[in-house]
Amino acid sequence: MAQKNILHMLTPHKHVSPFDVNMALDAGYDAVVPYEAVTLEEVADLVQDVIFSRPPHWGASSGVFFGGDDAVLALDMIEAAKNALVPPFGTNIFADPAGSFTTAAAMVACVEKVLKEKKARALKDVRIAIFGATGVVGYCAAVIAALEGAEVTLVGHSGVARVKARADEMKQRFGVDVASVNGATDEEKKAVLEGADVVLAAAKAGVRVLTAALLQEAGGKLLAAADVNAVPPSGIEGIDVFDNGKEIAGTSALGVGALAIGNVKYQTESGLFKRMIEAPEPLALDFRDAFALARTLAP
Ligand SMILES: NC(=O)c1ccc[n+]([C@@H]2O[C@H](COP(=O)([O-])OP(=O)(O)OC[C@H]3O[C@@H](n4cnc5c(N)ncnc54)[C@H](OP(=O)(O)O)[C@@H]3O)[C@@H](O)[C@H]2O)c1
Repeated sequence: MAQKNILHMLTPHKHVSPFDVNMALDAGYDAVVPYEAVTLEEVADLVQDVIFSRPPHWGASSGVFFGGDDAVLALDMIEAAKNALVPPFGTNIFADPAGSFTTAAAMVACVEKVLKEKKARALKDVRIAIFGATGVVGYCAAVIAALEGAEVTLVGHSGVARVKARADEMKQRFGVDVASVNGATDEEKKAVLEGADVVLAAAKAGVRVLTAALLQEAGGKLLAAADVNAVPPSGIEGIDVFDNGKEIAGTSALGVGALAIGNVKYQTESGLFKRMIEAPEPLALDFRDAFALARTLAP
């Protein structure tokens, strides 16, 4: 009897994401089963219910996926799931809360490619300022870039305290040092741009964080700017959603737009589901795995 590939999709919210359900089924899962309003404390019991229902050599045919919209909670859920495994019983484990792990991976991978091909620079030692840094996408992008050796600054829009708390959490969990500043006013944003080589905009959908005038005032120093917001107005004025390394008018910075990033994000999420389906042994995947795949997909 050939075992089915079954994905158990857990979310702390009222609904799992239809986007993720479609992605998983289109990638080849035979069944995707939603579990809603799941708490961190419930993860271990659910995971053990998954693993003990099948013989150990079927472990890679089961998967547990965490959604939601909180990167830290999703990382905690991954850890709780890993700790609940009872070898040789296992299951694949993956999280992509609000698409953030794969979106952030795609954004950083696209920027890395543009920097490498058009500016002869790597992520290492590049100064990257991230707007929307208290959000899930901003969080993951910051950690991915910092782990690659970039000098990352989290930019807040309502004081420095909340971005500083995020920076402290990243240090504790991943051992990365990232700076934090406030970037609410144009003056503060200007100062951020003057100290950055790259800006990433990961703010709320439909919120413009940087105008063309601010980018132009930053002069010719900025190497690249990426924007994940696909809902008009764009997060960074002057970047079209399809841009992938096109110079932003009035600057020498190269723009990367939301749909260029979205294309890599889509392939990354799908690719990680496929990888779990095809894996001979169970895998545990987070945004670092997403980045490793995304950088092979960035056009
Ligand atoms: N292109 C793609 O494939 C793709 C995929 C997924 C998501 N996205 C986009 O990625 C972006 C980030 O998503 P997310 O899930 O991380 O969103 P999120 O959790 O809502 O975070 C958004 C961030 O924006 C900040 N913010 C809210 N209002 C702001 C304002 N007026 N000025 C500056 N910053 C503001 C939030 O700060 P607070 O903490 O104060 O709320 C937070 O840091 C969204 O635009 C989303 O649509 C794109």
